[in-house]
Amino acid sequence: MKLGPGYAAHGRDVDAEPLQYGRDHNLPRLAPEQRRRVTLARQDVLKPGGPSPDLILAQNFSYFALKKRETLKAYFVNCRKSLRPGGVLALDIFGGAGTHKRGVERTDHRDFVFYWEQYGFDPVTHEARCAIHFKPKGRRKVKDVFVCDWRLWTIPEIRDLLREAGFRASHVYWEGGGAVESTWIAMIAAEK
Ligand SMILES: C[S@@+](CC[C@H](N)C(=O)[O-])C[C@H]1O[C@@H](n2cnc3c(N)ncnc32)[C@H](O)[C@@H]1O
Repeated sequence: MKLGPGYAAHGRDVDAEPLQYGRDHNLPRLAPEQRRRVTLARQDVLKPGGPSPDLILAQNFSYFALKKRETLKAYFVNCRKSLRPGGVLALDIFGGAGTHKRGVERTDHRDFVFYWEQYGFDPVTHEARCAIHFKPKGRRKVKDVFVCDWRLWTIPEIRDLLREAGFRASHVYWEGGGAVESTWIAMIAAEK
């Protein structure tokens, strides 16, 4: 939004709560003129319709909620149809040996501790339940503030599906050097 008056952003979610969070916490940080160029709407991204953007950002691993191959492919087809010619679909993805087992990661912040916990991993279905807990300073830990029931997709599966959905190319952007850490995060960009 800060790039200039010719830019617009459209946020979509089936759930009203994250949309309201954005209205309450993120939109106020923009100037009124910038805010007018943002629309937030409750929409199932598997249904056709909506804007025709240059860039679709499916971030925070949201598409991991789409567990079936045909459902994820339908989503990618929908994205490709929505995009303008030459447009890009950008997806973040995580994986690695560390995501194939139970585990908890702790990150200390000034006023709170953040926990990312994976409750398990099913090697047959590649499904996992992950949760976020918080421990505010001086207060007790609040567990399961967010719980995700996910299919842990792999990079080659996603690239195959993007190709089948009609994207002409996909590129993987790797964070850091060549070493594969026990848990990694990468970006996949698919060109219409
Ligand atoms: C990991 S959260 C990310 C929330 C938020 N977009 C963010 O980045 O912080 C995944 C979101 O995907 C939404 N979602 C799942 N299936 C969806 C669908 N078919 N259409 C639109 N949103 C969907 C969920 O309601 C949930 O808010």
